[in-house]
Amino acid sequence: MDLLYVALSGLWLMLPSLIPNPAAVIFGGGPPIDFGRSFRGKRILGDGKTWLGLIGGVSAGVSLGLIMLMIAFRFDPQNLWGFESCSRGFGIIFVLSFGSLLGDMGGSFIKRRLGIERGAKAPVLDQYDFLVGSILLVVIFYPDWFINHFIIGEHILSLITLIIAVPILHRIVNIIGYKLGKKSVPW
Ligand code: CTP
Ligand code: MG
Repeated sequence: MDLLYVALSGLWLMLPSLIPNPAAVIFGGGPPIDFGRSFRGKRILGDGKTWLGLIGGVSAGVSLGLIMLMIAFRFDPQNLWGFESCSRGFGIIFVLSFGSLLGDMGGSFIKRRLGIERGAKAPVLDQYDFLVGSILLVVIFYPDWFINHFIIGEHILSLITLIIAVPILHRIVNIIGYKLGKKSVPW
């Protein structure tokens, strides 16, 4: 039971990283972040990365995070279910949400350099780019938080759960987005 709790807590704490991408699909559109510019003959990021997607995605992640903080405050005012305090929690949530879409942009940047067209498949990169972005940014700004909740002792189980769950969630969400007509391909 304890181990299940540790496993699920990783998903809970990373929700602000999981939400921005699907939200970007909903809010995206308009001018691309790279404004159509190219680097060495290929688009820097491509038309799939837009300002509205970035702003809408980060806003959605942060909004959900604030709701999570409010719920946690009700039941665990001392530790906010792992977000520790309101100010630290807010910082962590922002960094996870922003890092998620930075990672997504990093993924697109790499895809374009490899000559992979916008929307074409790039296994591993497509599934994990946002998670890597969130983790990198949170490790830079809140290293002790990440180590305490995802590395030390049994907490490594939280990280393993994430690594297993993320591609599955990614697939489910993309199939839903495709069926709703929000995505042109089911991956
Ligand atoms: N999106 C956006 N702005 C972002 C991220 C995503 O507008 N910063 C929207 C775009 O409509 C995009 C969709 O969400 O097409 C799905 O995102 P993703 O699969 O990451 O982009 P792709 O279109 O597949 O492009 P890429 O090949 O660059 O990953
Ligand atoms: Mg894609």
